[in-house]
Amino acid sequence: MKLLSIKEISGLEPDGRSVTVKGWVRTKRAVKSAVFLEVNDGSRLSNIQCVFSTEEGTAPELAAELARAGTGASVAIEGRLVASPAAGQKVEVQATSLRVIGEAPAETYPLQKKAHSLEFLREIAHLRPRTNTFGAVARVRNRMAFSVHEFYQARGFNYVHTPLITASDCEGAGAMFQVTTLDLDRIAKSGEPVDYNKDFFGKPSFLTVSGQLNVETYAQALSRVYTFGPTFRAENSNTSRHLSEFWMIEPEVAFAELSDNMELAEDFLKHLVRTALEDCAEDLAFFDERIQKGLVEGLRAVLTKPFAHMTYTEAMKVLEANAGEFEVKPYWGLDLMSEHEKFLCEKIASGPLFLTDYPKEIKSFYMKRNDDGKTVRAMDLLVPRFGEIIGGSEREYRLDVLLELMKEKGLKEKDYTWYLDLRRFGTTPHSGFGLGFERLLLYVTGMANIRDVIPFPRAPRLADF
Ligand code: 4AD
Repeated sequence: MKLLSIKEISGLEPDGRSVTVKGWVRTKRAVKSAVFLEVNDGSRLSNIQCVFSTEEGTAPELAAELARAGTGASVAIEGRLVASPAAGQKVEVQATSLRVIGEAPAETYPLQKKAHSLEFLREIAHLRPRTNTFGAVARVRNRMAFSVHEFYQARGFNYVHTPLITASDCEGAGAMFQVTTLDLDRIAKSGEPVDYNKDFFGKPSFLTVSGQLNVETYAQALSRVYTFGPTFRAENSNTSRHLSEFWMIEPEVAFAELSDNMELAEDFLKHLVRTALEDCAEDLAFFDERIQKGLVEGLRAVLTKPFAHMTYTEAMKVLEANAGEFEVKPYWGLDLMSEHEKFLCEKIASGPLFLTDYPKEIKSFYMKRNDDGKTVRAMDLLVPRFGEIIGGSEREYRLDVLLELMKEKGLKEKDYTWYLDLRRFGTTPHSGFGLGFERLLLYVTGMANIRDVIPFPRAPRLADF
């Protein structure tokens, strides 16, 4: 491709060569002898400065184009690449021609030069990638997604594409979106009962909450596998850390125990943080300055020491001893709230913290039961600022125990026959976890609201764009 991006042009030597810059005008500034256009094409955070000399007057055609080149206009600029006298940029363009491709009239274009609130930008999600913040989020998101594959591919994992439509509820939580082609209006008016035989799949079906059960089948054949795709939860959680549609990375490893699982999770998170620091330095410096002071230093610190570990029971003793700190009183058996999780990693561990061996009542049916009969081999990784970033476990591989756990949770054996076959034929101890991709992005960008790290957020009563 002959077309060079602004990032590529900015890396060239300022030797006076001819260049063509294409992008969108961020700002226009006129001084006595020149007009400066700052142009951005999203290839990196920084703009390229294009300088139009007006010292010897301006040709009428150029003056007309300059008048149209307001904030948001798309432009093509030709000129010579020279060293820039301005601080913070190696090169600039001594512009010789300007073509406005598409105007963005100042009276109607919502993104003006001033800073806009994140709330306002959420209402114009189709235009917000043109801002510094959302451009940076998009680039970091892209790099992290690629880094996920790099990490697993380098370790001999196979990427498995698990289905989005399913008839089983992995987490057993019941918070699923139903998928149907039945004419609900007609059925409601007719007063007839719903006949799922007539539905598309011949039975009730849903959008998946997790690829885990499906990916487990491939772990029982290929040993090391992972899935990375969208998942859906119909919980009515209107918080800054929940989405109704989010992306999840779920590795699953045959013969792995909980300690192997935690080692993998720690290596994985550190790999992602290291990649962000190395390859997204410009964007992270921006987040550090504008979004969360100390972000970069905090991420560097994560790489320097091993993550802390505690059992749920140990953690509960600490929480009970500090009960005055919380809105919800801690007690053994409570599903931890984010205030408890944050307290543990911020005040006790001063960094990421693995909590293990949770009460079986608050965890999913497939987790391996401990000998105490009360807890399961679960692990959550908690991080400062928002709490849980990873949830996983060693899986119950003993058929009889798994059946007991399912019975306790009120799950029907007939709904899980294929899953139970994995325990009937060549069963193995195995473990896996899920990393919420948007939670990871909150972690590495310092953004506060999960709706700002996915291009088009889906949440209760929110499915615009
Ligand atoms: O703890 P969860 O529900 O675990 C599972 O789904 C397992 N099947 C994973 C596995 O063992 N393979 O979710 C895993 C992670 C959470 O730690 C969190 O980071 C993220 O997914 N997550 C959400 N992210 C955004 N919005 C939501 N509503 C989320 N629910 C979970």
